[in-house]
Amino acid sequence: MLNGMELTGRVALVTGGAKRVGRAIVERLAAAGCNVAFTYFNSQREAQELAERLVASGRQVVTMPADLAEPDRAVAAIATAFSNRFGRLDILVNNASLYQPSSLQAVTLQQSRRFWALHVEAPLLLCRHFEAHLRHNRGHVINMVDLIAERPRPDHLIYCASKAALANMTVGLARELAPEVTVNGIAPGVVDWPHGIAQQKRAEYLQRVPLAHAGTPADVAELIYYLCTTGNYITGQIIRLDGGRSIV
Ligand SMILES: NC(=O)c1ccc[n+]([C@@H]2O[C@H](COP(=O)([O-])OP(=O)(O)OC[C@H]3O[C@@H](n4cnc5c(N)ncnc54)[C@H](OP(=O)(O)O)[C@@H]3O)[C@@H](O)[C@H]2O)c1
Repeated sequence: MLNGMELTGRVALVTGGAKRVGRAIVERLAAAGCNVAFTYFNSQREAQELAERLVASGRQVVTMPADLAEPDRAVAAIATAFSNRFGRLDILVNNASLYQPSSLQAVTLQQSRRFWALHVEAPLLLCRHFEAHLRHNRGHVINMVDLIAERPRPDHLIYCASKAALANMTVGLARELAPEVTVNGIAPGVVDWPHGIAQQKRAEYLQRVPLAHAGTPADVAELIYYLCTTGNYITGQIIRLDGGRSIV
């Protein structure tokens, strides 16, 4: 029987947790009783405000600045800050992301490397560092992928390629970390509009979505909660969360 507090005493680590989808994930896991560590890059003020609110509600919270485009240095710093505060890890959500145009002629090698660092290398290093914790606690890893990883857009060539690599690694990690740990990916369509998308563009996109509306960060957070509770027989899946966009 679920009582809404199934994750009491567990610990989650969420990358990019200060704003938007990451923030909804942090809030949902905390509402289910979880203590939470989360990283931020530019959003220090939002991170602090969120942490204060969750601490006031009785959770233990650690916020960690991290530039995951420098994954080896960032993961070492995260590992230290995390272990100074928590002695266990149950849930790892690789959410931090860089959504930028990256076409064949425009992308620079430096920009390309940031995509791979953020979307592939940082999740890899975090999984490796926390493997023993996750196995010990029969934990869960959730990687935030993207629907357009399977339908690559030329104007977002390297964004898509790096997210596709993350989807592939998700399946490999699910095999590697079984039977103790579940590893899944979530591939949203639109759950929070990127900044600066005109109303007309939004309407055009939604015409191709059978459910005719965008999803929300809360939809992602609810799915993660499910994967970490009653959905714990699911592993190695990339779950499309897209209002049906992928079926038309
Ligand atoms: N929004 C959607 O509709 C949608 C659609 C498909 C897939 N997704 C995926 O779902 C996840 C969440 O989406 P979102 O729209 O909330 O993502 P987002 O706003 O693009 O990025 C999430 C966070 O990543 C952090 N970040 C950026 N560069 C970083 C760096 N170098 N080092 C560390 N952190 C860095 C930022 O933290 P700061 O704010 O602290 O700088 C940002 O808040 C992402 O993985 C995204 O690819 C989202």
